Amino acid sequence: MALLNILRYPDPRLHTVAKAVAVVDERIRRLVDDMLETMYAADGVGLAATQVDVHERVIVMDTSTERDSPRVLINPEIVARSTELALAEEGCLSVPQIYDKVERHARVTVRALGRDDTVQEFEAEGLAAVCVQHEMDHLVGKVFVEYLSPLKRERIRTKMLKKTRDEQQQQRRAAA
Ligand code: NI
Repeated sequence: MALLNILRYPDPRLHTVAKAVAVVDERIRRLVDDMLETMYAADGVGLAATQVDVHERVIVMDTSTERDSPRVLINPEIVARSTELALAEEGCLSVPQIYDKVERHARVTVRALGRDDTVQEFEAEGLAAVCVQHEMDHLVGKVFVEYLSPLKRERIRTKMLKKTRDEQQQQRRAAA
């Protein structure tokens, strides 16, 4: 297994639309395992392949408090959504240290292939519902900050660019 590099907003590659996975083979299982390792190492609850610059419809998540219930969603589809909406605070491994409220469907029913290539269907609510919708947005090139006001988005963009610049400078200094 290997840790993967997570793209940071506003990296334009985060706006790539992912393609369906054609076959759940060894390559996809390795991707899934690396994504899970990367997600746990970064202390995230979800990760979409888009965020590690692989543009195929793969999501990993674990919304359990014990961090022992990984879920793998390959070619996920939302087959039902509640009319009821819920407002919840979100964060994203591609937008570190930024949290803001986004309104989404309170419950969604998801159908996807698992790591073993079998079809699974489940209803998600609470954090899991937020996570599924957030990660599925990544697969169509959408980052949660796009739900925020243009002013907030611009502030976040500036902050992230500065953070990346500072880190690169530190790395150069360390290498010198
Ligand atoms: Ni995210």
